[in-house]
Amino acid sequence: MPYQAAVITLSDKGAKGHREDKSGPAIAERLMESGYEVIEQFLISDDSELLQHHLIRLADQRRPDLILTTGGTGFSQRDRTPEATLAVAERNAPGIAEAIRAASLKITNRAMLSRAVSVIRGKTLIINLPGSPKACMESMDVFMDAIPHAMDLLRGDGGDCAR
Ligand code: MTE
Repeated sequence: MPYQAAVITLSDKGAKGHREDKSGPAIAERLMESGYEVIEQFLISDDSELLQHHLIRLADQRRPDLILTTGGTGFSQRDRTPEATLAVAERNAPGIAEAIRAASLKITNRAMLSRAVSVIRGKTLIINLPGSPKACMESMDVFMDAIPHAMDLLRGDGGDCAR
């Protein structure tokens, strides 16, 4: 079965129609190019409770292998994506967010300003990405090769980790 993914963009400006969302579509396109089935892709405002609602709905009902969020990871007062993600997490999976920040710091020292987290709820891996399309692609460069093994393990058919 192909991996299934959902993509959520967090943007107050986007939700008001003041800014076109380029990140969500770029993430979805890259996922599809990599063989994923993108079951949902949508934009919401930087609303913590709304994000929690959608993360729970997706992870518990539609159960994709992967949810990627973009935006809301910075220092603005309305940036609450990491807190909303942690609030619905069952298990922490910090290595992915750590790897993204470590690799991104080689590109820009502003990478340290992303507070993004990576977690597990049920059988779904949830990864926060920064808001800009460039940052999203740079982040995906870091983990796209590694996460199939993680998603196989979450599905329960990962085999062992030895290569
Ligand atoms: N990571 C990468 N790879 N490339 C980037 O350009 N931008 C940073 C950071 N992470 C960036 C990055 C900047 S400028 C900010 S403010 C934070 O992500 C948070 O972005 P967000 O608030 O749009 O989520």
